[in-house]
Amino acid sequence: MGEFAIETEGLVKTFGGNRAVDGIDLRVPTGTVYGVLGPNGAGKTTAVKVLATLLRPDGGRARVFGHDVVAEADAVRGRVSLTGQYASVDEDLTGTENLVLLARLLGHGRPAARERSAQLLEAFGLADASDRQVKNYSGGMRRRIDIAASILNTPDLLFLDEPTTGLDPRSRNQVWDIVRAVVAQGTTVLLTTQYLDEADQLASRIAVIDHGRVIAEGTKGELKASVGSGSVHVRLRDAEQRPAAERVLAAALDAAVQPDPDPVALTVTVDGHGTDLGAAEQAARALAALTRAGITVDNFALGQPSLDAVFLALTDRTPADRPPADRATAGRDPTDRKEPTA
Ligand SMILES: Nc1ncnc2c1ncn2[C@@H]1O[C@H](COP(=O)(O)OP(=O)(O)OP(=O)(O)O)[C@@H](O)[C@H]1O
Ligand SMILES: [Mg+2]
Repeated sequence: MGEFAIETEGLVKTFGGNRAVDGIDLRVPTGTVYGVLGPNGAGKTTAVKVLATLLRPDGGRARVFGHDVVAEADAVRGRVSLTGQYASVDEDLTGTENLVLLARLLGHGRPAARERSAQLLEAFGLADASDRQVKNYSGGMRRRIDIAASILNTPDLLFLDEPTTGLDPRSRNQVWDIVRAVVAQGTTVLLTTQYLDEADQLASRIAVIDHGRVIAEGTKGELKASVGSGSVHVRLRDAEQRPAAERVLAAALDAAVQPDPDPVALTVTVDGHGTDLGAAEQAARALAALTRAGITVDNFALGQPSLDAVFLALTDRTPADRPPADRATAGRDPTDRKEPTA
């Protein structure tokens, strides 16, 4: 097996005049989880479909385990499996019926199909629900049976397109455990997600895409380091002191305070520009400044910047003079762009 499970050069996919994938270069190392992160309409699903040979590219090239996705589509299909953004199992069949049917279609004999299905239903915590129709499954159970269906034959490369969108935290954790188990078996996973914490939990490398282009790529550490050397988190005793605390922190750290829905929580990214002080020394000065200003601080921590901060910094297309609250929504909810509804 080669060094890269996926290699693309200048990959393009257009829909009419819309360049959904607009020149993507990717290198996905074999045996890892590679995260593709991007807001709605960024081109994630389109890119995955091209790589999985479900859509034909309009430009550039892509190879999966060295096979060209156009010229050698069959060879690619033999190595990959896709769990789509929208469930692909049959609603009216039970969990067992779905998996056995798919296993039979994949060429397993009846006993082997039954055995593999039972094994996966057990492993995915669906044994008790195995004889219920899938339409009566919860969202989390649906996702799990979907992933189970896509690994009936252990693929060399598994595409997981937003596997946890809409799931509660417990179900998300279950899916994450499944992804880890799949990778431990040697499968390479390309995971698309809008959730930064998901990429943080699972992916070794991440490509951030927006408007069909890769706008940043690297390990989590590299991406975080690109926005700053540290992130100061403060919890105040009293929400009324927040405006004062924001002013003191902004002045002490020479950086904008990020908006937080929690009225007593403040986060500031320390970027290290214009100072020789380390992030920890800058944080210590900020704490001292808060104390001098008579602000009661219940909790103070210095951590790495979050991937959230990276994402907002990268997908922020608005000038820096916009107020922070406006800039925050620009990354999360890109209503500033026109998209045809799919
Ligand atoms: N079959 C299609 N026909 C026309 N336009 C399409 C088609 N599929 C996707 N698009 C457009 O291509 C762009 C990228 O869509 P895509 O589904 O790849 O985004 P995404 O990153 O997966 O978004 P989401 O997070 O919402 O799933 C969007 O502007 C979308 O409207
Ligand atoms: Mg999508």
